Amino acid sequence: MAEHPRAFVCGHPVAHSRSPLIHGYWLREYGIEGTYERRDVLPADFAAFLSGIGEEGYAGGNVTIPHKEAAYRLAECLDETAEAIGAVNTLWFQEGRLHGSNTDAYGFAANLDAALPGWDRGVATVLGAGGAALAIVHALQTRGFGDIRIVNRTLSRAQSLVDRFRGGTSAHGWDAVPELLADTTLLINTTSLGMHGNEGPAVDLARLPDSAIVTDIVYVPLVTPLLAEAAKRSLRTVDGLGMLLHQAVPGFERWFGKRPEVTEELRRTVVADLEA
Ligand code: ATR
Repeated sequence: MAEHPRAFVCGHPVAHSRSPLIHGYWLREYGIEGTYERRDVLPADFAAFLSGIGEEGYAGGNVTIPHKEAAYRLAECLDETAEAIGAVNTLWFQEGRLHGSNTDAYGFAANLDAALPGWDRGVATVLGAGGAALAIVHALQTRGFGDIRIVNRTLSRAQSLVDRFRGGTSAHGWDAVPELLADTTLLINTTSLGMHGNEGPAVDLARLPDSAIVTDIVYVPLVTPLLAEAAKRSLRTVDGLGMLLHQAVPGFERWFGKRPEVTEELRRTVVADLEA
């Protein structure tokens, strides 16, 4: 075993990951002598990488694109959330066994809890049906939403989420959005639309009730076209950066033994890096 706790973020590519910045910030903040390292691993090498992490002295790590499904298959023990989502983003050793969880669902809910307590009542409309939507639909269901509409360009992907989660979920094409918005209390963009100056999702927010909340998982830019439009309409908005920060909390606690806080200063540090 290594002298100091070590953790990793493994992906391909992984250079863009902000996780080293977040965990590095917390390690310094709490005076923990540990390391958090980037590991760029090709899909063909991922299983061998995982089987060697114990010997390399890692306490665990994060797994990002394209390894989340492979990590789900290869972890020895999965918690309920990982089972429900079918993808793992956080790994750790416990009694010698490799455990896997998915903290994106936690990150999504914790971000909204911090920003707008009481967000978890009403009717949710989810734009997109990819990997991020999986975690978010699970979070919504866990928090008691009984009506979750999943909107996707490829209807079969929305339908497969409905088949997975059942209870209260329904699948729709984009043409249904105007009708769906009329009684939506929480609108979530889980697509990549609006990222890096691209056009946001084509939805007319005038249909939303005045009390609705609009949130986006895209955080570059922080104020996405969808959030800008929502703010113009004086709707309540929550940006996507908080989800990224909060999803990192459970992993840090597992590897380094301290539950870290998502502070304004951490947020400012990451925003400065995004803007650099
Ligand atoms: P992630 O894991 O980040 O969710 P993903 O699995 O590739 O990424 O999913 C991307 C989501 O954005 C999907 O819902 C995708 O719709 P399709 O399933 O129809 O591909 C959606 N998306 C991406 N580009 C889109 C576009 N130009 N118009 C509509 N939806 C788009």
